[in-house]
Amino acid sequence: MAMVLLFHCEWEEGEQILRDLSVQVPDMDIRVWPDIGDPAEIEFAVIWKLPHGELAKCPNLKAILSLGAGVDHLFEDPNLPRDVPIGRLIDQLMADRMAEYTASLTLWAHRRFDEYAELQNRRIWQQVSQKDAKDREVGILGLGALGMASARRLRPFGFALSGWGRTAKAEPGVTCYHGKDSLSEFLSSSEVLICLLPLTSGTRGILNAATFQQMPVGAYLINCARGPLVVEADLLAALDSGQLSGAALDVFDVEPLPQDNPLWTHPKVRITPHVSSLTAAETAAPLLATQIRQVQRGEPLDGCVDAGVEY
Ligand code: OXD
Repeated sequence: MAMVLLFHCEWEEGEQILRDLSVQVPDMDIRVWPDIGDPAEIEFAVIWKLPHGELAKCPNLKAILSLGAGVDHLFEDPNLPRDVPIGRLIDQLMADRMAEYTASLTLWAHRRFDEYAELQNRRIWQQVSQKDAKDREVGILGLGALGMASARRLRPFGFALSGWGRTAKAEPGVTCYHGKDSLSEFLSSSEVLICLLPLTSGTRGILNAATFQQMPVGAYLINCARGPLVVEADLLAALDSGQLSGAALDVFDVEPLPQDNPLWTHPKVRITPHVSSLTAAETAAPLLATQIRQVQRGEPLDGCVDAGVEY
């Protein structure tokens, strides 16, 4: 009998991912939620934001595979089966997409384009003082696959790069910090801060009034990880006081960003609708197939998530 896979994804790209995945695992019986038949037959779940409680109905799951780089959508489910291996996508194309986004916004902040846009609005021809890249401190909060790809993309520009992560990392041209005790030192050298941390109970709200205060006055925040890493009210206050000079935000507490959210109209905020690194069917489907085969063969799972990790 064919192995049964539950699929759920509401993105536009979801149908293409499903088609490509069916080609990659032609021997599997793929059932698209909610038409999954007998939940006891489900052995694999390939999902993004499946309604909570649904996985708990599948007693024979062998693996839960996220359709994105993040897995917080899984851990938010209070009934997540804790004994089933969880995989995330570690995809070079997604890393390249993210690096392109973070590099663009870093250059935007570095070259003070917000200020030039404002001057243009007022038809003012005025040059603003400009640092060289070697004197611009850029910090990457989160040195996983996406953070490292961003560091490597930024390195040729010559920025003074640093990075912070949970565990010790080494990367040429990047001053690497790790552990809670070094966070404040790292932040103090982040004039442009790129947030690429996973959302866990240990990182929720990590960027708040106290941590903004540890950054250089006039620092710029780029958040393309998860909205709840940042305390939104503290961000607005830091922008209004000038502690931060601007923010480029791709992710929010509530998505889509509600119409009445003050971030929409804040003059120092650039907004994109969670597009920094979208999942690509062409690369995701083969990676998912590899993960499925690994589980079937009893091999270690690529992108296996350590469910106990707290930052
Ligand atoms: C992801 C995302 O986790 O796009 O991949 O947010």
